[in-house]
Amino acid sequence: MITYHEQERIFKLDTPNTSYLIGIVDEENFIGHIYYGKRLKDADASYLLRTEEPPFVPGKNNRERCSFYDCFPFEYPAGGIGDCREGCLGIRTAGGHTGAMLSYVSHEILEGKPELTGLPATFGTKKECTTLKLLCEDKYAGMQVELLYTVFQDTDAMTRSVKVTNVGREHFYLTKVFSASLDMDNRDFDMISLHGSWARERHIQRKTLGYGIQNVSSVRGESSHQDHPFLALVEKNTTQDSGEVYAMNFVYSGNFRAQAEVTQFDYVRMSMGIHPENFCWKLEAGESFQAPEVVMLYTDKGLDAMTNAFHTLYRKHLIRGEYRNKKRPILINNWEATYFDFDTEKLLSIAKEASKLGIEMLVMDDGWFGKRNNDDCALGDWQVNEEKLKGGLKYLVDEVNRLGMKFGIWFEPEMISPDSNLYREHPDWALAIPGRPAAQARQQFVLDLSRKEVVDHVYEMVASVLRSANIEYVKWDMNRPLADIGSIALPADRQGEICHRYMLAVYEMQSRLVKEFPHLLLENCSGGGARFDPGMLYYSPQIWCSDDADAIERLEIQEGTALLYPLSTMGAHVSDCPNHVVGRVTPFETRGIVALAGTFGYELDVTRIPEEDRNMIPEQVALYHQYNDLIREGDYYRIASYSQNHKFDCWQVVSENKEESLVTFVQVLCRANFKSRRLLLKGLAEDKRYEVRFVNDKEIQTKVYSGDTLMKAGLLIPSFQGDFQARLIHLVKCEEKF
Ligand code: DGJ
Repeated sequence: MITYHEQERIFKLDTPNTSYLIGIVDEENFIGHIYYGKRLKDADASYLLRTEEPPFVPGKNNRERCSFYDCFPFEYPAGGIGDCREGCLGIRTAGGHTGAMLSYVSHEILEGKPELTGLPATFGTKKECTTLKLLCEDKYAGMQVELLYTVFQDTDAMTRSVKVTNVGREHFYLTKVFSASLDMDNRDFDMISLHGSWARERHIQRKTLGYGIQNVSSVRGESSHQDHPFLALVEKNTTQDSGEVYAMNFVYSGNFRAQAEVTQFDYVRMSMGIHPENFCWKLEAGESFQAPEVVMLYTDKGLDAMTNAFHTLYRKHLIRGEYRNKKRPILINNWEATYFDFDTEKLLSIAKEASKLGIEMLVMDDGWFGKRNNDDCALGDWQVNEEKLKGGLKYLVDEVNRLGMKFGIWFEPEMISPDSNLYREHPDWALAIPGRPAAQARQQFVLDLSRKEVVDHVYEMVASVLRSANIEYVKWDMNRPLADIGSIALPADRQGEICHRYMLAVYEMQSRLVKEFPHLLLENCSGGGARFDPGMLYYSPQIWCSDDADAIERLEIQEGTALLYPLSTMGAHVSDCPNHVVGRVTPFETRGIVALAGTFGYELDVTRIPEEDRNMIPEQVALYHQYNDLIREGDYYRIASYSQNHKFDCWQVVSENKEESLVTFVQVLCRANFKSRRLLLKGLAEDKRYEVRFVNDKEIQTKVYSGDTLMKAGLLIPSFQGDFQARLIHLVKCEEKF
C-alpha cells in the first residue's frame, strides 16, 4: 500500500512488514529519505530528516547550505552541489559542466507496475502491487528524473528504478545513473556480499563495514563470476533467524556497482546501479534513459527471511514462461562426456542408454557447428557440421524424440571466433578499439551488439537452427568478459554507451527468442555462473550455476546462490568422477542428492560410467520426480553451513502448507569417535506431527515428532562413517500419536 500524507508531505510505502518513508521539505522541495524499517502505524517520523539541526536550517538561513547538503538524507542524491558523499547521478552539460540536485515536482500513485522499456523487471497485477511515480527536476540542467517505487502484497521485497529525461534544449551526457540509494544511520553494520571466480561462484563473504566507501562491482560487461550485484548491510548480531538486514539486488546482467559509504556523522549511504566506468550516455533534447531496477529489502528477522522474500518475489514476479512452476525435464548434457569429440552415433548411444534409465532430454553442447572441433574457432558459424552430425540435425533430433526424449542445443550467440567465416566476412563486427588489436579470451572476440544489423543477423542464424527441428531447450552460453570496448558504428561521444547497449541487445534477442519459441526451455549460462542474476532470470527460468559440479564445491556455490535465488533456478547436474575441475572423487549418491537441490540432470557419459553408478540413476530419477515439486516451490531454510563450520552442510525445504519437508544433510568430513548431530529444523508447524524418514538410510527407524519439538529440541542425525556422505530426510505430516 502507498499513501500520500498531504499535510506533512510524506509518502508512506508499506509492505506486509515494513515501511518506507519519503518526505518533501521546505519550499525548495528537497526530497528526503525519512525511514526504512519495521512497519509503522503512522507517518510522523519526519524529524529523522534533522532539518532543524544547525548550522543550516532550510528556509531560515543560507550561510551553511553546503554542510546541510553534505548530511541531509537525500532520497536520490546527485553530486557536485555540496553533498560530498558519492551521489547517484552524474551529468555533463553541453558546456562541459557537472553538478545536479533534484527537487520534487509531482507524483502519481498507480495500481500495478509499469514495464521498463527494453529491460528485464519484476511485474505484478493491479491487485498484487502499487507503484509510486515521483517526478523530480533539476531546472538548471533541464533534466527531469522519474523515481519509481513498487511495493507488493505478498513479499517485503520492493523495487526501485530511475528514468532521466532531457527536458532542456541542448544535449547533455549522463556519466552515472545509479538505480537506488538509501541514506540511514549506521548501526555498526556488517556487509555481506557474494564473491568468487570461475568454477567457484557466489561464496558468501561477511565483513565489518568501516568508514569510507566499500563496494563490490563488475566492469567485465557481465554480472560476473567474481562479484555479484548484491549487497546486504546487517547488524553485528544478525543470524539466519534474527536481526536486521538491508539488502539490494540488481535486475541487470552487465557492469554494476553496489556500495556502502559510512560518513563522518556515522550515516550510511547504500547504493546500487550501472558501473560508471565505461558509461557515458548522450541524451538529446527530449530523450530519456531508463536505468535498470533494484530490488530492495528490509527485515528484522535475519537472513532466512531475506532469502524467503527474494525467492517469493522472483518466483511470483520475475520468472516467466511455461516452465516457471513446472518440473523441468531431467537432462543429460554431453559436454563433460565428450567435449568436442562426438558425432550422431555417439550422441545416440548416450541418448539410448539415458532413455532406458528415465532421463528425459539430451542436450547437445558445444561443437556441433562449423568447424568447431576445439575451442579455437567457428563461433558465429551457426550451421550444422554434417560431417559430425551425419544425416543432419533433424535426423538426430527425430531419433532422440523416437526414444521418447526431448532434444536441447547449445549456442554462444554473442561471440565470434577470429577463425570463422563470419569474422572473415565481417571483421568489423567484433568489438575493438580502432588501431589497437583486440585481446582474445578463449580464442574469441565479442560481437558488437550495439549494431542492429549484427543483432538481427545473429538472431536469424540461431532462430533458423531452432526452426529446423523439434528443439525444446537452448543453453545460451557466454564465455568471456567484454574488453576493447569500441564500435565503428558509434560516434566518439557515444562510445560510452556500448556496454549498456550490448546488454539491451542481449535482452532484446532473448526476448525475441522466447516470443518466437514460447514452449522453449531457455537456460542461461556464462562459462558456468558468470551471469546468474535477476536480469537473466526474466528470460530463462534456470541458469547453469557453475562449471564446477563437484558435490562438495557445489555446497558453497549453491548456498551462496540460494541466498537470493529459488532452488528452481539453479542448474545442477551429477557429473563424472574424478571431477573434471577439482579431481575429487565423491559417491554417486551424494552427487545425486546435491544436484536434487537444483534443476537436476547429468553431465557424463552414461555408457561409460561404472555399472553400480548407472544402476543408481533410476532411483535418483524417482527421487527427483517425488521431491521436485517440494524443492522447487517450497520455502528454503539454511540449517548449517559447511562454509562456516568446515564439517557439514544442511538445508531444508518446507511446503507452503507445512505438511511436507525435505532436509538434506551432507557430511563433508567424518569425525572420529563422534556422537549424533543435533540440528534445529525450521519452518514447520508447531502443532503438527511429522513422520521423519531417512530416505537413503533404511537402518534408521522412521519416527514421529511434533514440529515444535523438531524446531526447538531438534533432530538427531546419527553418526555414520565416510567422507562426502549425504542423507535425505523426508518429513510428512501425520495423525499418529507420540
Ligand atoms: C562453458 C559452459 O559453462 C560449459 O557448460 C560448456 O557449455 C562450455 N562452455 C562449452 O564451451
